[in-house]
Amino acid sequence: EKGGYDHFMIKEINEQPHTIEDCLRGRLDAQSGRITMAGVENNIEQLKNAQRIVMIACGTSWHAGLVAEYIFEELCRIPVEVEYASEFRYRNPVINKGDVIIAISQSGETADTIVAIDKAKEQGAFIFGVVNVVGSSIARLSHAGAYTHAGPEIGVASTKAFTAQLAVLTMVALKIAIEKGTITHERYMQLLNELHAVPEKVKTLLERADEVKAIGLKYKDASDFLYLGRGYNFPVALEGALKLKEISYIHAEGYPAAEMKHGPIALVDEKLPVVFVATKDAYYEKVVSNIQEIKARKGQVIAVVTENDEVIPSMSNDMMYVPEADEIVAPMLSVIPLQLLSYYIGVAKGFDVDKPRNLAKSVTVE
Ligand code: F6R
Repeated sequence: EKGGYDHFMIKEINEQPHTIEDCLRGRLDAQSGRITMAGVENNIEQLKNAQRIVMIACGTSWHAGLVAEYIFEELCRIPVEVEYASEFRYRNPVINKGDVIIAISQSGETADTIVAIDKAKEQGAFIFGVVNVVGSSIARLSHAGAYTHAGPEIGVASTKAFTAQLAVLTMVALKIAIEKGTITHERYMQLLNELHAVPEKVKTLLERADEVKAIGLKYKDASDFLYLGRGYNFPVALEGALKLKEISYIHAEGYPAAEMKHGPIALVDEKLPVVFVATKDAYYEKVVSNIQEIKARKGQVIAVVTENDEVIPSMSNDMMYVPEADEIVAPMLSVIPLQLLSYYIGVAKGFDVDKPRNLAKSVTVE
């Protein structure tokens, strides 16, 4: 049932060209410029007139919400907040008429997210679910939604569900944006084509898994890692750090790259591996200067870079290459080497990567 792979985690990482494809299938028609999503179409007035969108989730799904915050604000010009379900539920959150809650969950059974939805519903919010497990509690509690169609995720660490969440959330944002008129038709068509090209690009980058494995073996004995990124790649840095903690039991922190000089830079010495998620985007030049700051303090720089980049590789100790892509879809690519890195380090250390200690696949207790 592991389809010839040693673990579910690596099987699921490798499934991503297909799972993203499955998620787009029947919805995205890049040629005609159509995205078909009944959950969005049937509620388009509610969605496009939202005064505010609040994303509610936990863990990896919360990271998908953070990427979506950047995407929705950019494309739809709607203010977005991203909340940890566990915090949202215990506060006295301000919910106004016309607010839309997007609840993101792989399992659809996460207790904190369920209670947060209940609370938002009581106060009159409209709930849109982005869920993987069909018929799960969160799917049933939502007023509308879109499934991620990533198939069963068995490995405890979430991998393919995350990229599918990003694909769905991007399509929802694009549909709202074109209806609202907050993006040009040209940009819309361009992004449809970018999305359409993602599965093939994921396939290409997975062919370089051995390069990531070699980096994993080189750094597996480090006691701490720092993950840095800016813009759309900032949540990817958080996700990379979470994967390393869960699978490799190595302490890791993710930070926005520019925030590092406000504290974490004190940690940098010649022993500290610093993973930069540094693909070519609007933030690129700024990230280059952040890398220089780390190099000046003798940190070991491991960079996730765009294939044709020559500048960052000349400054870094090790590279993980991803194909060129628009910054809106780039996280679906740049996260994958980080999933692989945690996998290879965990395996090299002899850990049970499919069932890390102390973790459960779905957290059905508060
Ligand atoms: C990380 C991980 C957890 C889940 C979190 C939310 O690899 O698996 O952080 O992402 O427990 O779970 P769902 O998405 O099922 O609500």
